[in-house]
Amino acid sequence: MTTLKWWQTALFYQIYPRSFADGNGDGIGDFKGITEKLDYLKGLSIDAIWLSPHFPSPNWDCGYDISDYCNVAPEYGTLDDFKTFLEESHKREIRIILDLVLNHTSDEHAWFLESKSSRDNPKADWYVWADTPPNNWQSCFDGEAWTYVPERGQYYYHYFMKQQPDLNWRNPEVKQAMWEGARFWLDMGVDGFRLDALGTIYEDPALTPHDVPMTMGELRRFSESAQTEEEKALVEKYWFDMFKHQWGGPGLHDLMKELRSIIDEYDDDRMLVGEDDNIDYMGDGDDELHLVFNFPLMRTEKLRPAHIRKNQKERLARLDKLPTRGWGCNTLGNHDCSRIYTRFGDGLHDAELARVNAALVLTLRGTPFLYNGEEIGMTDHLIADPSKLRDTMATWYYEHLVKEMNVDPAEAAQRAGEMTRDKNRTPMHWSNAANGGFSPANVEPWLPVHPNHAKGINVREQHDNPDSLLNYYRRLARVRKQIPALVEGGYKPVHEKAEDYFAFLRFTEEQSVLVVLNYSARHHELKFNIPGKKTARVLFSSAGRSRKDQPLSHFTLGAFEVLIAELG
Ligand code: GLC
Repeated sequence: MTTLKWWQTALFYQIYPRSFADGNGDGIGDFKGITEKLDYLKGLSIDAIWLSPHFPSPNWDCGYDISDYCNVAPEYGTLDDFKTFLEESHKREIRIILDLVLNHTSDEHAWFLESKSSRDNPKADWYVWADTPPNNWQSCFDGEAWTYVPERGQYYYHYFMKQQPDLNWRNPEVKQAMWEGARFWLDMGVDGFRLDALGTIYEDPALTPHDVPMTMGELRRFSESAQTEEEKALVEKYWFDMFKHQWGGPGLHDLMKELRSIIDEYDDDRMLVGEDDNIDYMGDGDDELHLVFNFPLMRTEKLRPAHIRKNQKERLARLDKLPTRGWGCNTLGNHDCSRIYTRFGDGLHDAELARVNAALVLTLRGTPFLYNGEEIGMTDHLIADPSKLRDTMATWYYEHLVKEMNVDPAEAAQRAGEMTRDKNRTPMHWSNAANGGFSPANVEPWLPVHPNHAKGINVREQHDNPDSLLNYYRRLARVRKQIPALVEGGYKPVHEKAEDYFAFLRFTEEQSVLVVLNYSARHHELKFNIPGKKTARVLFSSAGRSRKDQPLSHFTLGAFEVLIAELG
């Protein structure tokens, strides 16, 4: 292999700390639990963990409303527990990146408490204040984006909930304070950060109002009811137009450069990955973010070959244009969206499609990110009882439907259960025991556990079953590590018109590998014309094919088969 950086070769795994492993048996995940599971992650060939926020937080937005950037939420443990986790991870050669939430703090953060206390305190200008709401901007979670504070007789701006006031990044003291927070963890040895919602850091300085003829509540309802392609396109346009002035304001490139220079002061082994799909935030390829997620890949209702091909074509062309060749970053799921198994299933072949999609993420060009639980096929869990919802956005929505829209409570519960992110954040299933082995039987976990933990969707049973999804992920992850072309190689699609399957080459000077992912239940007899190549030696097959040569002139592909083969 050429000399690649660790974050280019690594397999990343996102841990949602509240739901991963409950080490002290109180119903909430914690560092003791995560540390105990590091060997499990090692067994899955995980090289790096992205940890969703573990900082003290009133949890209006499940940890993304931080009240102290330099500490650990008591329910997750202590700073010493964090240090043990970091040390134990590093011992196993697992790197750790943390979630850095720059756009906003919690409204209970000491900075905001001071800022809101008067118009002339030392932090008066640390947040975005106005005498009257200067426009009709909305909070993307609910209601107006401007909230009144009687102490100041003024309004503050919040892109997210009112419990998440936006910081004023034009104030150098804010930068200073936030960079100190970042250094706190870098000094301790963390390997980098995932930058939360970075696009929202700067707004349009002209404060241009949006021109969507709906309120947020109306738009949400319109989104739910949209049926036709035209309506769906209009929904998308309205979402975009409603928030376009609140995103990507001037200054972000300079800010990212500044943060990159701090990261680079440490050593060239620390990294930044941005929660944004805009490749521009990689700057020249080596002066802003190291990676940005390829969200357009998963922004589709049905993951089909034509969509994937188009995505790769556009994405890789943009990455290759960067002065320093850019590096891709693929994922299909995270804590904000419906689980892969549910979302990209078709209701009939969900299990098969989950395998094809796992192979997709692990064979495309770019660094793969998995989301905890996908490796055992965890599905969305529709929480029917609104009192059990913890995603504030959904509890508000439920209230809005029942109280303001007079929707029948049962229907409102169903709709809130579908829109909430709780459904994809439920506790990890470690076994088929009560509570999925996440917490002791007599303890109620912070979110309900999906009953399908008792039907084979759990680590313990899948560990013992050679044909399980978990062992399939393990095999694939190992194969990816053993095949340099899959990690560092170029990408070239073949059979570009095929509707049922997605076929492509990954290649280095020494090695060419053919990957074929059958997204359909149909068998195919294929013929590949690849100059200078006659056979394909099977390196991995989801259908259990033996490792022998297949002639490229007569290539058989089974239903939903995943095949990785070296060309010769
Ligand atoms: C990011 C997080 C999401 C959170 C939001 C506000 O999008 O992924 O969970 O609600 O930022 O911090």
